Amino acid sequence: MEQCDFSVSHAFHVVGIYRVPLLMPSPGSLRIQTLAFSEPNLLPPSSDLRSNFVEFFSVQIMVSAMDLKEHKFVVAGLLFFVTLVLAKIVAAVLAPKSRKRLPPTVAALPVVGGLLRFMKGPIPMIREEYAKIGSVFTVNIINRKITFFIGPEVSGHFFKAPEAQLSQQEVYQFNVPTFGPGVVFDVDYSVRQEQFRFFTEALRVTKLRSYVDQMIVEAEDYFSKWGESGTVDLKYELEHLIILTASRCLLGREVRDKLFDDVSALFHDLDNGMRPISVIFPYLPIPAHRRRDRARARIAEIFSTIIKSRKSSGKSEDDMLQCFIDSRYKDGRPTTEGEITGLLIAALFAGQHTSSITSTWTGAYMLSYKKYLTAALEEQRGIMRRHGDKVDHDILSEMDVLYRCIKEALRLHPPLIMLLRYSHDDFTVATKDGKEYDIPKGHIVATSPAFANRLPYIYKDPNTYDPDRFAPGRDEDKAAGAFSYISFGGGRHGCLGEPFAYLQIKAIWSHLLRNFEFELISPFPENDWNAMVVGVKGEVMVRYKRRKLSIDN
Ligand code: HEM
Repeated sequence: MEQCDFSVSHAFHVVGIYRVPLLMPSPGSLRIQTLAFSEPNLLPPSSDLRSNFVEFFSVQIMVSAMDLKEHKFVVAGLLFFVTLVLAKIVAAVLAPKSRKRLPPTVAALPVVGGLLRFMKGPIPMIREEYAKIGSVFTVNIINRKITFFIGPEVSGHFFKAPEAQLSQQEVYQFNVPTFGPGVVFDVDYSVRQEQFRFFTEALRVTKLRSYVDQMIVEAEDYFSKWGESGTVDLKYELEHLIILTASRCLLGREVRDKLFDDVSALFHDLDNGMRPISVIFPYLPIPAHRRRDRARARIAEIFSTIIKSRKSSGKSEDDMLQCFIDSRYKDGRPTTEGEITGLLIAALFAGQHTSSITSTWTGAYMLSYKKYLTAALEEQRGIMRRHGDKVDHDILSEMDVLYRCIKEALRLHPPLIMLLRYSHDDFTVATKDGKEYDIPKGHIVATSPAFANRLPYIYKDPNTYDPDRFAPGRDEDKAAGAFSYISFGGGRHGCLGEPFAYLQIKAIWSHLLRNFEFELISPFPENDWNAMVVGVKGEVMVRYKRRKLSIDN
């Protein structure tokens, strides 16, 4: 089996989505002003809120410890804190009452209360407040206000609002040193839109057909190295297969065939360069950032050589790299080598962890719920009766039972638990019970797939694994209208890689179902809430035995 260590976080989500743009201190404000953060430079979001906050405050505590030697700083700090609290109270009493219909605010101790509740876990906080104060509410986190929109009736606004009203750029700036200059969140919206068009073109059906062929070859090759029987950590295995596949389909043949180990190691450094502290200080000269920057520079060199060689040989390949090489801006300008490299990094960050986590949850559920495993096997038999052993894009598209098994695993465990935007304009939102709230400019607006995907008025027995809820006739996600199922986001910034992700996971699981019998031997896994992209905690041990699925039962 090929060994590799090639983990990258989900670009648009990981690095963008979860990181809360709240606590950006201005350089130099860190000493005693733990609570006095400068305005915008909106902190790019962090995927692991709690650890970001913890790390952030650790930094503050360390800095404060230095100050302890000097009492005057401690006294000044305390005075500052007391003044801040008093000023808040006085301002609240004296301020003219706004005529705005502001959303209810989460009850918490002044100044740090909201932060503390958030640090204890955003999902429990959302659960509690949703039950108490409804589908739109604001939590004050130090100097920032995050307003949550929960449920399709209100999150429609989140997903559909134009960029001029709710934007991603401010909360995603943090990606820039990783993706590199000139791409995605380093460029203005009009250029970004064009670059997203390149993604759309690179992921259209004609391209997906050839990616699928590569996915199948990778899966066959990978599992051919397993023995007749054995015990494996399914999570580890699927993670590695998905890295290999992503590098074949996205980064291209040169990397997959000749440079895989080198490029894997470089991506590992890039991934590790995203620390909680990077959220606040993405350019802080710490070893992890230096390694990230070196890796980014080396990746740029590698791709520059590959791109030059492809261009000079005139050879064209079926991969995303080739699509980006061939992409043109509206004014006819071709993409530069730097842009191509940045877009590929972004794609890998977007699709890798998310897909491997989802393929592991799908397996864990199918192996635990025999009813659905049996249905998925029966579906494979039916397809084998029609098409023999052949598998391609269209055949994968016939696998509806498997699709629903994946979709349901992803409903229960969306790797991206929170999506964020920054509000540039006041706007009004109406709840399903007819209340209207005015959301002021300057709020961070958030919605949570992890919570909204389990709303009991949309999903029957929402905590139960029941893939049939998506079957024709039930269609629970459609019955409540758009944005009832938001594991892939939706609307203006809905995931562009959704079909790719399903095809990849189906290619893997159809191969496994046809060629192996499994037994889950470790306890059913839990969410790893501390991971950058919320994944599967610990190992997922399975015993396997090779066998050919017979079409005769
Ligand atoms: C199970 C796998 C995946 C999940 C759960 C997922 C989830 C998401 C979510 C929730 C968003 C919306 C972010 C927001 O609204 O702020 C998103 C956006 C995006 N995803 Fe994925 N994703 C997955 C796989 C992929 C793959 C494989 C690719 C590409 C190869 C990809 C590319 C993108 C891109 C380019 C965007 C940005 C779209 C935009 O902003 O217009 N994703 N994804």
